[in-house]
Amino acid sequence: MTAALTVQGLTKTYKNGKKALSGVDLSVPEGSFFALLGPNGAGKSTLINILADTVKPSSGQVSFLGHDLFSERRWCKQRLGVVPQEIAFDPFFAPRDILKIMSGMFGVKPDIAWIDELLNRLELSEHADKNARQLSGGMRRRLLVAQALVHKPKVVILDEPTAGVDVELRKRLWGFMRELNANGTTILLTTHYLEEAEELCDHVAIINQGKLLTSQSMKGLLNTVGSSALVLEYAEDVANESLSKLTAFSPRIDANKIFLCLKKDASGQNNFNAAYQAAIQVLGEAQSVSVQNEDLEDVFLRLTNEHQS
Ligand SMILES: Nc1ncnc2c1ncn2[C@@H]1O[C@H](COP(=O)(O)OP(=O)(O)OP(=O)(O)O)[C@@H](O)[C@H]1O
Ligand SMILES: [Mg+2]
Repeated sequence: MTAALTVQGLTKTYKNGKKALSGVDLSVPEGSFFALLGPNGAGKSTLINILADTVKPSSGQVSFLGHDLFSERRWCKQRLGVVPQEIAFDPFFAPRDILKIMSGMFGVKPDIAWIDELLNRLELSEHADKNARQLSGGMRRRLLVAQALVHKPKVVILDEPTAGVDVELRKRLWGFMRELNANGTTILLTTHYLEEAEELCDHVAIINQGKLLTSQSMKGLLNTVGSSALVLEYAEDVANESLSKLTAFSPRIDANKIFLCLKKDASGQNNFNAAYQAAIQVLGEAQSVSVQNEDLEDVFLRLTNEHQS
C-alpha cells in the first residue's frame, strides 16, 4: 500500500529545552482512517503542527504522497488540510467569507457549491454570514474543519476536531468524516474519545512522552497487544487461597468472580481450555463463564502506564 505520509526520525526540542518528540517514525497508509493517540503532553500537536508548518522540527524527514514535505511545501499544502487544536482565525469576517479567502490561500478559485455544502454539512449555514466573533466554541471548531476542507485535500489532519462539540453534533461530524474517508480522503486525527476512535479508525498509533509506542492496524493492535481474560462467576465469594493454585494464569479475584489471563500462541489460538479446566479443578463448576477482551481504552492505558518514566 502506498503511504500518504511517511515520518522518519522526527525530533523536536522546544527553545526552553523541552523534548516533545524523540525520533518518531510513522507511516500513514493512503486511504486510511488513522488515529494518533496519546495522553496530554505526549507530543501529538507538536507532530501535527510540524506537518502544518507552524512548528519547525529539530530533525527528521517527512514524505507526503511521495513528495518531500519540507522542500515542496507549496505542492503539499495544496493537497493537505489541517485542523489545528488551537482556535485561531480572524474574527472580523463571516464564515462564508473566511472560506472564500482560504480557497485563495490554497491557490484555488472558491468553489461556491462546495463551500455551501461544507457550511451545510458542518451545520453552519444559518451562521454563515454572521460575524465570526459571534460563533460559539463548538461552531468555531466546525468552521476550522470547513476551512481545512475548502480545497478538497487528499489528506486531512485533524487535531481533536470534536473537542467541545456536543454529543449529537459529534456523531454527525464523525459521520461526515467517515463519508470523506469512504470517498478516498486519508484522515489522520487525534482524539481523547477512545471508544469513537476504536469504532471509526482502521489504523492507530500511540505516542507517549514523545516516543512512538506502537503503530499498526486497529484490528492488529486489539488482536496482538490486547489481551483477554476468562471470567468465572460463582454463587459465593472466591477464596483467596485459590490464587496460589492458578498462578500460571495471573489470576485476579473480584468478590464472586475470578479473572484468568488468556495467552495466545503463534497461530493466534488462546489457552481457554487449559485455563477453564484448571479453574474448575480448583473451584468447581462456575455459575457463568465468559471471555472479556481488552478494548482500545484498556490497551491504551496499559501501554502508556507501562512506559511511564
Ligand atoms: N511552544 C512550546 N514551548 C515549549 N514546550 C512546549 C511548547 N508546545 C508544547 N510544549 C510541550 O511539549 C510537550 C508536547 O506537547 P503537545 O502539545 O505536542 O502534546 P499533545 O500530545 O498534543 O497534548 P494534548 O493531548 O494535551 O493536546 C508538552 O510537554 C508541552 O508542554
Ligand atoms: Mg494537543
